[in-house]
Amino acid sequence: MPDNTLRARDEAFWQTFADRYDVQPGPINLENGYFGRLSRTVVDEYQRRIEHINSSNSVHVRQRFEQLESVEIRAQLADLLRVPAEALALTRNATDGLQSLIRNYNRLQPGDQVLVCDLEYDTVKSAMRWLAKNRGVEVIEIEPPHPASFDSLVECYRAAFKQYPRLKLMALTHVTHRTGLVMPVKAIASLAQEHGVDVILDGAHALGQIEFDLDELGIMFAGYNLHKWIGAPLTLGFLYIAPHRLEDIDPDMGEFHFPANDIRARTPYCTPNIPALLTLPLVFEEHRAIGGAAAKGARLNYLRNLWVETVRDVPGIEIMTPNDPRLYCGITSMRFTHHADQQVLAERLLNEYNLFTVARSGSACGQCIRITPGLTSTARDMRLIAQALIELS
Ligand SMILES: Cc1ncc(COP(=O)(O)O)c(C=O)c1O
Repeated sequence: MPDNTLRARDEAFWQTFADRYDVQPGPINLENGYFGRLSRTVVDEYQRRIEHINSSNSVHVRQRFEQLESVEIRAQLADLLRVPAEALALTRNATDGLQSLIRNYNRLQPGDQVLVCDLEYDTVKSAMRWLAKNRGVEVIEIEPPHPASFDSLVECYRAAFKQYPRLKLMALTHVTHRTGLVMPVKAIASLAQEHGVDVILDGAHALGQIEFDLDELGIMFAGYNLHKWIGAPLTLGFLYIAPHRLEDIDPDMGEFHFPANDIRARTPYCTPNIPALLTLPLVFEEHRAIGGAAAKGARLNYLRNLWVETVRDVPGIEIMTPNDPRLYCGITSMRFTHHADQQVLAERLLNEYNLFTVARSGSACGQCIRITPGLTSTARDMRLIAQALIELS
């Protein structure tokens, strides 16, 4: 196996990798956190599958996809995650899976408390708030410390569990889309378990760039999409329920197409994007061939560190994630401390420097600009963003 840290710095290697992707001329894309590009081979496979499903229509789908291919694809996904296939149900995206888990969690009684923090994704926050009206629970909203440290994050949750003894359920985001902070999932999940609090993990940004083992993290319920760092087409995701906890999530809105003891009853029954699903074997093969999340994560962290380390001490710039490698990954936000409106600065990065980023708000620590290199980004791109940030600071 190649050493991922060494390989992460090998521009020639990553250039060969980048050559497998079509990239339009235009702004340098540093907003790769939204969704990932497909390799040219996956695009070709996707097109081939669209054409085939379009011409064979329901004959192929009813005779092969429903009974055989979808089962095989789920088994391959389970292999990738090192979990049993019965613990996974395919969904259309992360929100679908997470909201099904939140909506159908059946252990809440009126008067119980549920917990979210400001860094959670909006569709997760709104679903947790929906529980207040529909289950009669109280929603506790906390703001983890900023700047954060591993211990202060854990302490913040410990304090919440003590302060709110009626807590039964919480949302936790592995990598927050607002600042890029990576949460100490294992430590928080272990504390939660001690206090009888169930965790629903939002893993959207983690899958494909952070190596994890759900069992080892102590996570029983989680939702993911497949379009960020794995390299799959849009419209695909999945939810995870540890098999011994399946009974704690009801079938989705009376879902009956699968038996009640089948996790697939926990998702809305629908006609999925079959051609997209059929690309997954190739997507998984390519993800593995490059070295999986370990190799991708090492490259993204290397690129992230190139710009972060250049600007971290520059007056007028604040990096929103700490320097602790346990708490950051490739996606990292920054803020121009002398400017109130970060959106204006994101626009200047685009208009004056041809660098495409995205402004983010909604966290208690304030507005920021999210900078996310992708797998086709180069060390030169990182020098350009660092230089632009210094000039604008
Ligand atoms: C942290 C996080 N959670 C959930 C989602 C929702 O994912 P999806 O669009 O697949 O529903 C996103 C989307 O970017 C996200 O960043």
